[in-house]
Amino acid sequence: MAGPALRGATITGWGTALPERVVSNEELAKTVETSDQWIVARTGIKSRHLGGTTSALATEAARKALHMSGVAKADVDMVVLATITADQQCPASACTVQDELGLDCGAMDLNAACSGFVYALVTAHGLIATGANNVLVIGAETLSSITNWDDRGTCVLFGDGAGAVMLQATNGPGQLLGWDLNSKGHLRRLLYADMGVHLVMEGKEVFRQAVKAMTASGNASLTQAGVCAEDIKLVVPHQANVRIIEASMKRLGIPLERAAVVLDRLGNTSSASIPLALVDAIENDRLEQGDLVLLVGFGAGMTSASAVIRWGAT
Ligand code: ACO
Repeated sequence: MAGPALRGATITGWGTALPERVVSNEELAKTVETSDQWIVARTGIKSRHLGGTTSALATEAARKALHMSGVAKADVDMVVLATITADQQCPASACTVQDELGLDCGAMDLNAACSGFVYALVTAHGLIATGANNVLVIGAETLSSITNWDDRGTCVLFGDGAGAVMLQATNGPGQLLGWDLNSKGHLRRLLYADMGVHLVMEGKEVFRQAVKAMTASGNASLTQAGVCAEDIKLVVPHQANVRIIEASMKRLGIPLERAAVVLDRLGNTSSASIPLALVDAIENDRLEQGDLVLLVGFGAGMTSASAVIRWGAT
């Protein structure tokens, strides 16, 4: 299901947070039977940041986004935190962020796995369409807490981190031109973590489904936005495997150079990966006012999510 926003919104601030500890492929190769060469060739990942807690990383990223936006703490209406690695089963880690930032507003976690940030962003647009003015949208993960460090098939993939944006109501139609949220629940056993247990994954099939889902969702958002692949200046894909990004870009008909890629340094940070890649692109001057951006992700569920936004729109 998808539809145009009733009252527009736009991103006015952003921030990221990464744990200090950087773990290289060589370091991992000391504990499991793998090699830098295998990991780089099969995934594109060279290193990742590990450590911290989800709420602390989320708070740091959100504090930066809040500061940059210039929104007063009293004017923040909601914190939406996308994560699969909340600090506790309950309460939501978003409540810790709200408290740590000294906000007086609603707070909730949202779990759509690696599609989580785009789910949260679309949800926040919905909150603004129905009356909210300022919503903090965060993707934060400590995947290291659910990783099986003895399983070379998964432990080389993941990293920890957070990215956040401030979404503000606008007078005009806002940035969101099209969106698509989907779930294929019958595929949920391909990738899951039972309560208190490590993440389990059928890598090859997840890969296949991921390319399908990224392409279908990306195309759905492009169609809804009424734009073509050639119109897209920047694609911010979920950062799971550079080969998934390459295959999806090819199927979407968008040159690979237009993709934001940070997984070489950060690994797969699930809900945090899209905001981390988006902020990296902004900081490297890859976006100008009016550019069209396609955010597109997939994850456990299997969920998929995409959105076309006009950067800097009011
Ligand atoms: N180092 C060395 N060898 C390895 C490693 C490793 N780290 N991992 C697996 N291998 C071996 C396997 O044992 C296998 O050996 P065999 O041929 O003797 O049986 C061989 O390498 C090939 O294994 P495959 O699993 O077939 O390798 P593949 O090319 O599919 O790459 C990978 C595996 C990287 C996991 C890939 O399938 C992938 O990226 N899948 C998608 C993962 C993903 O996107 N997950 C996203 C969800 S994350 C989330 O939601 C939190």
